[in-house]
Amino acid sequence: MSTFKALSLAMILSAAGAVALADDMNGLGNRPNLGQKITESDIKAWDITILPDGTNLPPGSGTAAAGAKVIAEKCTICHGEGAKGGKNAALITDAPLPPGQIEANKTIKNFWANATTLYDYVRRAMPWNAPRTLTDQEVWDVVAYILAGNKIIDEKAVMDAKTLPQVKMPNRDNFIIRFPDRI
Ligand code: HEC
Repeated sequence: MSTFKALSLAMILSAAGAVALADDMNGLGNRPNLGQKITESDIKAWDITILPDGTNLPPGSGTAAAGAKVIAEKCTICHGEGAKGGKNAALITDAPLPPGQIEANKTIKNFWANATTLYDYVRRAMPWNAPRTLTDQEVWDVVAYILAGNKIIDEKAVMDAKTLPQVKMPNRDNFIIRFPDRI
């Protein structure tokens, strides 16, 4: 055997040895030994997606009256007085979506298809500067406030895991679900 061949063989054998050792260490088969196993509680913290039918909505309930306080304390700095528009988007609006104008200003009232998205979005993304800091209760109240302010629900209506999925958003029927049986 030439020196070159012997060297190549030795390299292959030692590489194989290293892989076998890694296998023994993590019991995961022939994979690089990187990272660590994800735990159930790691997954739970991120598994918060709420579906249009209300799946994953937390317990509790909210009202517009209670939401007004949360909005004033935590949202007006960006969304303006009563969330009617400030530095950032108005959460409560009147402007309709003109037909056929794709570039028109899309708002919660004139565009969003599902009321449950409000819960999902606010809980995961707002306040912008401190996402995931609202309690489930605060989110319930804010959701009721935004829907009532937009006159989509009565201002006394109570929002909870049962009532929120039943709220029909004004633009709901303009969304076409291509494969309804796949969701
Ligand atoms: C520091 C500024 C800031 C604060 C405070 C804040 N937001 Fe926002 N919010 C934003 C920005 C920026 C966006 C736009 C995000 C984007 O570009 O998609 C937004 C978007 C939203 C939207 C989506 C609006 C739409 O028409 O798409 C909702 C709903 C919302 N915020 C709710 C809230 C609520 C409720 C609070 C208070 C608990 C809050 N935000 C506090 C900055 C803020």
